[in-house]
Amino acid sequence: MGRYRVGLRGREARPTRSSFRDRSQSTSPSRCTQSSLRAILNRLQSYRIYLLVGAALLVLLYLTWPRSGPRGTAQHEHAVELTPRWSSKSETSASTNLRVRDPDHTSTSGSPTLAKRVTAELEHLEHGLQRLLKNRFLPSRDDLSKLLQNLPPKQQTLRFKVCNGFANQRLSVVYGVLLAQHLGRTPVLPVLMRDGIQRSDATVMAHGANKVPFEDVYDLTFFLYELAKAGIRMLEPHEAPRLSAYTEVSLGSLGANVSGALDTTYGHVQHLSIDCPLFKMSPGEMNQRLDEPIIWAVLDALRPAQLPYSYVETMQRAIKHLGAINGKPAARYNFLHLRLENDWVAHCKRWSNIPDGVVRDNCYNNTETIDVQLRLFAFSTNVPLYVASYWNDVEPERAKKVMGRLVDAGYRVITSNDVFPEAMKAEDREIKALVEYYVGFGASRFIGNSVSTFAALALLERRHQKLWAAYYNGGNIPVAPYLPVHKLPWVFTYNSWSGKYDYMLKAAVRSAAHFNTLMPYCIFDGNTSSSIGRWLVDNNVTMIRHVPSWRDELLKKAQSRMKDNVQHSHLYKNPDMLVSTFQRVDLPVVPILDQYTYVLYTDADVYFRRAIHLDDFGLPLPRSVSMSYEFYKMFPYNAGIIMANLPTMRRNYKAFLAMMLDNDDGLYYPNYGPADQGIINKFYEHDLRNQMLNQAFNTKPYNDFDPNSFLIHFHGPKPHEYLSYLETGKCDFYSVCEQGFLKSLCQYVQEWQVYIPEETEMMRLGDSCTWLTNPTIMAVFQKKTGLLAQNQAVPDDKRQEFTQKQRL
Ligand SMILES: *[C@@H]1O[C@H](CO)[C@@H](O)[C@H](O)[C@H]1NC(C)=O
Ligand SMILES: *[C@@H]1O[C@H](CO)[C@@H](O)[C@H](O)[C@H]1NC(C)=O
Ligand SMILES: *[C@@H]1O[C@H](CO)[C@@H](O)[C@H](O)[C@H]1NC(C)=O
Ligand SMILES: *[C@@H]1O[C@H](CO)[C@@H](O)[C@H](O)[C@H]1NC(C)=O
Repeated sequence: MGRYRVGLRGREARPTRSSFRDRSQSTSPSRCTQSSLRAILNRLQSYRIYLLVGAALLVLLYLTWPRSGPRGTAQHEHAVELTPRWSSKSETSASTNLRVRDPDHTSTSGSPTLAKRVTAELEHLEHGLQRLLKNRFLPSRDDLSKLLQNLPPKQQTLRFKVCNGFANQRLSVVYGVLLAQHLGRTPVLPVLMRDGIQRSDATVMAHGANKVPFEDVYDLTFFLYELAKAGIRMLEPHEAPRLSAYTEVSLGSLGANVSGALDTTYGHVQHLSIDCPLFKMSPGEMNQRLDEPIIWAVLDALRPAQLPYSYVETMQRAIKHLGAINGKPAARYNFLHLRLENDWVAHCKRWSNIPDGVVRDNCYNNTETIDVQLRLFAFSTNVPLYVASYWNDVEPERAKKVMGRLVDAGYRVITSNDVFPEAMKAEDREIKALVEYYVGFGASRFIGNSVSTFAALALLERRHQKLWAAYYNGGNIPVAPYLPVHKLPWVFTYNSWSGKYDYMLKAAVRSAAHFNTLMPYCIFDGNTSSSIGRWLVDNNVTMIRHVPSWRDELLKKAQSRMKDNVQHSHLYKNPDMLVSTFQRVDLPVVPILDQYTYVLYTDADVYFRRAIHLDDFGLPLPRSVSMSYEFYKMFPYNAGIIMANLPTMRRNYKAFLAMMLDNDDGLYYPNYGPADQGIINKFYEHDLRNQMLNQAFNTKPYNDFDPNSFLIHFHGPKPHEYLSYLETGKCDFYSVCEQGFLKSLCQYVQEWQVYIPEETEMMRLGDSCTWLTNPTIMAVFQKKTGLLAQNQAVPDDKRQEFTQKQRL
């Protein structure tokens, strides 16, 4: 996996020098900037003939500034002169007339406290990097020894090797430690590799001069100290038994269940040495709950050693200075890891055509229209953009095209060649990769290709640190099943005035936490200090405040047909409720969620029965939105559960709102249904009909029991209404309550109620269900109440009314 260095610079770059120097001189000298700046200037002057493209990115960088906002000044004339050479205006922009929220100018209306909260969240996202890279606690060797006294090595040890490039080596360490934990062995610190370039698909492992001590790359004391804090002892090579004491085993010979085979066949061997464990454990061998803390313990313990760390700092400073506006260094930068090298193009061809039936459809997607993706992911042109790639191996025409589009789109582009410290030139390939990895970590926004292990790992680590990270190539993250730490964002909307539904929401949140594969987000309306607001925060739900831009217009529409609407639904009586139910149409534009490609949206009246991963939705993933049947097995579908492709929804957002608000039937969409559900069905009819969400993600308790269901949706009657039916014989939903008892409600309720043991009302429902799942008692119950399985639980002429009712 290549990336790094080599610039696109040619003779045209020269005029830049003077403007650059002028600028730098007017800058007040801040701490370490002057020397690195001078180094860059010197380098610029020494350049004569230049590789690729003749692409003078720096010139363009400066010349295109005026487009980035009112602050551009003196550069203006140059821009007029030079821009056309790069302009490919006609090709761009067609699909992105949407003005994406600029994170610099996040406006969140509502009360000042709400705005403050959101701002705080955003600041955390964008500046959390300071936390990570600065203020490094450096434990001493003594600190470490003290900690290790209580953590003696185990009798059995495990040596392992690392393989391939930087990201693969980093992950090899994770796998090595993980495997040792599974086997009850103490792992031995591996040596790393200077250059792990893969010239074929074969694994590359360290030998001879290619070996580099761990401590040259990572901070060794910190690593051992942090692992020990997590209860993991790792032996340094000099502490480990000598090599001749080891039995060597090749993992390739062990079949699919590597940890099982090592345990059964080699359990008695005291010291075991294996080759590279990277991706050798199958997803089934890993345990989401037990392995996740180990994986994070290892990754969080990996920090650059002092020298590479100083390169990271130097590069960050240089990027901020190059990205200066009016002599004022940029406060931050964004990072694009762009895979467009020749080896990647070849890799994608091979990878997409592996004949094993797995859909691999996102390797090279959107690469050559990356500017469009950056817009969709709200990359501001005000923030300098660092573009990482292995430029040596990029087809000049391709580089010119792609970079030209970025510049045309107004991005101020910086590459490795602009900012690699002189001293780093002679460094090993993987050290450069490490430095760029951490420059990526230090960015405000990070975007890469999810098929690349480098970008996928950076994305997972950044999200773990609550830093913003996205991928531009669509589809899934192929390594996710091999690293059980990827969390699928799960979004619901809620408010502080629906107290009678709180118990359902609590079961939903707790069941999700139980399986530990979802990252919960709540778009919350109303009083966050209310008991449910505090409960959500205490249960690690990320709260998002969002006031839709269309709020007033929607309310006006609703009011214009108030009288008819109230008949359709009492939703229309309360503006807050109305806006609240429509909130899901804003999934693509709320802050924080804007980093995700796919999110799972659900109503609050659900609970999860199994761990859910993105790939469970079936590949290829939906093009826009995917939903499943409502009560009837027909279109339109139910918007209570949505698998949503956010970049696509964002591209369509403007048109969607236009259709939503251009409606003279109040907020009823004839043939498509009421409110938000109606408009989603109307706008996305084609895609919805094309790819329906599996019923296992929207399983209703009034249908037959589905042992494979992922999530149950209490669609129609809620549990308290089922209970009330048992007690009063009355049901607001025609025969649907009876249907629930006759079908699967009771089986689900018994699973569900364990999540809310404090809800005594619901224990009564659970108790009744315990009786009713006994067939004999059920038969008596049926006879006494005259209950019969109904073919038609809702009369034909009440269908519309039923649809309305359940939208509340
Ligand atoms: C792997 O093998 C071990 C030991 O034979 C066994 O206990 C375990 O269930 C197996 N795991 C999988 C996923 O096959
Ligand atoms: C990627 O592009 C191919 C070819 O245009 C297309 O068939 C596929 O659906 C795209 N995949 C994604 C995830 O967008
Ligand atoms: C929000 O709820 C808390 C707790 O119930 C209450 O003390 C506070 O007054 C409420 N604030 C508003 C603005 O209603
Ligand atoms: C919330 O997260 C923290 C930190 O990860 C964890 O210790 C705590 O148990 C979580 N709380 C709940 C209710 O899940």
